[in-house]
Amino acid sequence: MSALNTNVVVAVIGAGAMGAGIAQVAASAGHRVLLHDNRPGAAAQAIDGIGKQLVRRVENGKLAASARDACVNALVPVEALEQLADAGLVIEAIVENLEIKQDLLRQLETICRDDCILASNTSSISITRLGAGMARPERLVGMHFFNPAPVMALVEVIKGLASDPAVVDCVLATATAWGKKAVLARSTPGFIVNRVARPFYAESLRLLQEGVADCASLDALLREAGGFAMGAFELTDLIGHDVNYAVTCSVFDAYYQDMRFQPSQIQKELVDAGHFGRKSGRGFYDYREGAERPQAASLQSNSRVPEVIVEGEAGPLQGLLERLTGAGIKVSHRAGRGLLRVGAATVALSDGRLAAQRRADQGLDNLVLLDLALDYARCTRLGITWASGTDADAVDQVVALLAHAGIAVTPLRDSPALCVLRTVAMLANEAADALLQGVASAADIDLAMRAGVNYPRGPLAWADQLGSGLLVDVLGHLQAVYGEERYRPSLQLRRQLAEGVTFHE
Ligand code: NAI
Repeated sequence: MSALNTNVVVAVIGAGAMGAGIAQVAASAGHRVLLHDNRPGAAAQAIDGIGKQLVRRVENGKLAASARDACVNALVPVEALEQLADAGLVIEAIVENLEIKQDLLRQLETICRDDCILASNTSSISITRLGAGMARPERLVGMHFFNPAPVMALVEVIKGLASDPAVVDCVLATATAWGKKAVLARSTPGFIVNRVARPFYAESLRLLQEGVADCASLDALLREAGGFAMGAFELTDLIGHDVNYAVTCSVFDAYYQDMRFQPSQIQKELVDAGHFGRKSGRGFYDYREGAERPQAASLQSNSRVPEVIVEGEAGPLQGLLERLTGAGIKVSHRAGRGLLRVGAATVALSDGRLAAQRRADQGLDNLVLLDLALDYARCTRLGITWASGTDADAVDQVVALLAHAGIAVTPLRDSPALCVLRTVAMLANEAADALLQGVASAADIDLAMRAGVNYPRGPLAWADQLGSGLLVDVLGHLQAVYGEERYRPSLQLRRQLAEGVTFHE
């Protein structure tokens, strides 16, 4: 089914942060938009705010004055719900409360035309459950925009159990016509993004709680090695711990306390203290006047390492070897088990075992483990760890080697799968499980994570690049060393490994 014609009137209910943004998106796409809020004057005030914001964009040369006028003139404040009778699509963005939303939807059914599509911007309520109180739930879908709606590219279109596939297709096409990246998801807790993103926060919180490194170091690794726009602590400080913790608790409860989604005590403590992040002046970091921002820990070395010997296949570390060669380091090869010899040190990408455990298992002295990087050829920082008792000179030689290639080195306490590898493995595992359970297609899961939360690579494309074999190993080792089902590898990863297939062609 094709997108709604621009002559179809769109109504938005709730003129708060989301409703105002959604109204602006629909009006910019050429629809006449009726904006309603049950607070008298709120809709007119929101339209005034949109107008002022667009004036600034015109002044900065980012928007034509005619486009601003067209958008503002298309926005109509409406004080009574009955005035929405002409709308062909109604999007509700009111308070996140099941009973209040159900009550509104029931009223809309009596006011709107039979062919009017009803959509909810809910981020946590089941569309199936919302539709349960309706006379015709087939015309209800989720239309989950991200904040701020005019800026964020993603819209998750949510299909409830009763949603008519033709209505779903029309909403997907309409969101696309509005310039958004639209993905289709089944109505399941957290939909795609709020589910698959949970490990991004959860694993950093756990690493901090276990004293593996401080916030600034873990954030720097996710940014500079992982390629994420922000680390988990700076991002949750921005989102607000009250909001982020509430989403985690809601997903955890909705999945019947699956430990994969377990909330964190240290985040709860921030919430208890009222340290919500930037908006309250304190979170993991201190935003008050004069407060200093802590720096990531970096090891220094004055040594020089002229040579690296590669034993066997370097695997994901191949980009690092090319970078070392480019930096004038001699790289030679011989047969072996995928290890690098750097002076007195033996170096390997973590496989999820503790350094101490792998040293004992494989009989490797002076073992130094590297964390994952999105792109070893370009990363500016890398995490490393080693077992206690490792020769200090061996560690120093690894630091010297990486520093020579322009890579800052952050030390991590010996912990399974370090920081970026653990985070990426758990993101890929969650994405694989969402695929297994038919929540969305592999393409839509990756698109949602790139467009909705700006991940540098879709988690399933990342899994393809690393290989399901490595991921199953890493997750299996994490599961064994913690003794927790939280780290159990998804059946989807195991199946793909057994079948020798990838997520994408
Ligand atoms: P908000 O609190 O900024 O705005 C809600 C607006 O709805 C208020 O202006 C309120 O007066 C109005 N309202 C409440 N009950 C109403 C009713 N019965 N009839 C008409 N108007 C009513 O909330 P926000 O942040 O805009 O969220 C709205 C919805 O969007 C919620 O369902 C939320 O879960 C969802 N959402 C929020 C995101 C966010 O980052 N804030 C992101 C994606 C979805």
